Amino acid sequence: MKVRKLVADDIPGALELSTVVGWNQTAEDWRLTLELSDEGCFGIECEGLLAATASLICYGRRLAWVGMVLTRPEFRRRGFARRLLAEVLSLADNRGIQTVKLDATAQGQPLYESLGFIAEQAVERWSRDGAQAERAPVDRDRLREFLSRGNVTDEIALWRNGRVASYLGPCVSKSRESARQLIAETLGTSGERWFWDLLPENRNAAQLAAEFGFKVERPLVRMYRGEPLHVDQSRLYAIAGFEFG
Ligand SMILES: CC(C)(COP(=O)(O)OP(=O)(O)OC[C@H]1O[C@@H](n2cnc3c(N)ncnc32)[C@H](O)[C@@H]1OP(=O)(O)O)[C@@H](O)C(=O)NCCC(=O)NCCS
Repeated sequence: MKVRKLVADDIPGALELSTVVGWNQTAEDWRLTLELSDEGCFGIECEGLLAATASLICYGRRLAWVGMVLTRPEFRRRGFARRLLAEVLSLADNRGIQTVKLDATAQGQPLYESLGFIAEQAVERWSRDGAQAERAPVDRDRLREFLSRGNVTDEIALWRNGRVASYLGPCVSKSRESARQLIAETLGTSGERWFWDLLPENRNAAQLAAEFGFKVERPLVRMYRGEPLHVDQSRLYAIAGFEFG
């Protein structure tokens, strides 16, 4: 097994991997993850294929986010994900990161628990079905800028294309009313399929999602390792993505 840093040439293989497991990422999402992770995106090559990946995005020294933990089905239970987690966690430790967080699927949770991650709160993927429709603008550049800035004071609702559904998020707002307005503008009038990931601890977010016709598709668990880090969630209506936090 060969662990190495992923580079732009790995994007097609990485996209194939996330597509095989049914995830929503596009090539552009992988490009953004590579860029934001600043050499913190690793993979394992096996039998000429990119068999497994994991990424670490640092938000200063206070927080880092683990994402894209994926192993191709035919290479599972060989310790690939465990090996990649060891790599990203040692990078986090070397960089002096105080808290590492991630959003765990049911499949990933036992691995993270065995590495000392502790469940913090629920995260939910909500979705709304509809016919596909063409939409022009994509906010990935604004997302890059938003995530790079770290300190969030604006009111904002972004969206991006996904492989299987458009993705609403992040959305930050001072009040439920202005969140409703921002989200209504973002969703537009088209009936395409949408994903919206939120923290149900913010009940206003879950209530708004229901109002807009979304339903819970799957529960995940937000987990942390290191110092607890609690932030005010009352302004967060949609997270930026499971890989970004
Ligand atoms: C979760 C996932 C990445 C694990 O990859 P993997 O390379 O098979 O994991 P490893 O071989 O390193 O196993 C590590 C540990 O994870 C746990 N684990 C892995 N697969 C498991 C399964 N199907 N059921 C229960 N526990 C499992 C075990 O604790 C295992 O420890 P062990 O070696 O003592 O048995 C893989 O199943 C996957 O890609 N799933 C789909 C995508 C996903 O949900 N990713 C997690 C995102 S948070």
